[in-house]
Amino acid sequence: MAAFSVRPALPNDGSFLADMVVEAANWRSGGIRPRPTVLSDPVCRGYVAGWQRPADRGVIAVDDGGRAVGAAWYRLFAAGAAHGFVAVGVPEVIIGVTPLWRAQGVGRALMQALADTARTAGFSRLTLSVEHGNFAETLYRSEGFTVVETHAGRDTMVRSLR
Ligand SMILES: CC(C)(COP(=O)(O)OP(=O)(O)OC[C@H]1O[C@@H](n2cnc3c(N)ncnc32)[C@H](O)[C@@H]1OP(=O)(O)O)[C@@H](O)C(=O)NCCC(=O)NCCS
Repeated sequence: MAAFSVRPALPNDGSFLADMVVEAANWRSGGIRPRPTVLSDPVCRGYVAGWQRPADRGVIAVDDGGRAVGAAWYRLFAAGAAHGFVAVGVPEVIIGVTPLWRAQGVGRALMQALADTARTAGFSRLTLSVEHGNFAETLYRSEGFTVVETHAGRDTMVRSLR
């Protein structure tokens, strides 16, 4: 298995996080939503705009040359501003891994590191949103997320950090 390590996300990782929002929006094989189209969507843009705000935290997977290959991060949102909103004070997770690095354990390592980060920051739950049919839902279930709402072809999933 290829070697990678995980480090905290930094303020200058915003552009890579935007890349990962585009990957997440194009999760279907053959997905072709261009970057400008994805990032002109207010919800997608809201996942990265102004990174890194004070409560934003993330983790970056890097290869042995220090190049970013995946990211998971969370932000706090107001009601209606993101797909996975459940309550004020419950951060929403976004995750993406570059295509060549998928199915090699990067996504799971990022989810686990981000949960540790959120727990340390004092949060008791995490939320996320996943479109129906995305195998990522299996990963989320195995990391303790359960479906709390289904709407418009998406599941909102929440996990406890306690
Ligand atoms: C979803 C994603 C973040 C998962 O990251 P990853 O590094 O590929 O996942 P991992 O290698 O850690 O695998 C996690 C689990 O998913 C399973 N899995 C990985 N790729 C899979 C695939 N193509 N089909 C089905 N299951 C798969 C693995 O079997 C693994 O389970 P295991 O540990 O029991 O073997 C990544 O594939 C990705 O960025 N996909 C495109 C963007 C996306 O969908 N983002 C999420 C939007 S909600």
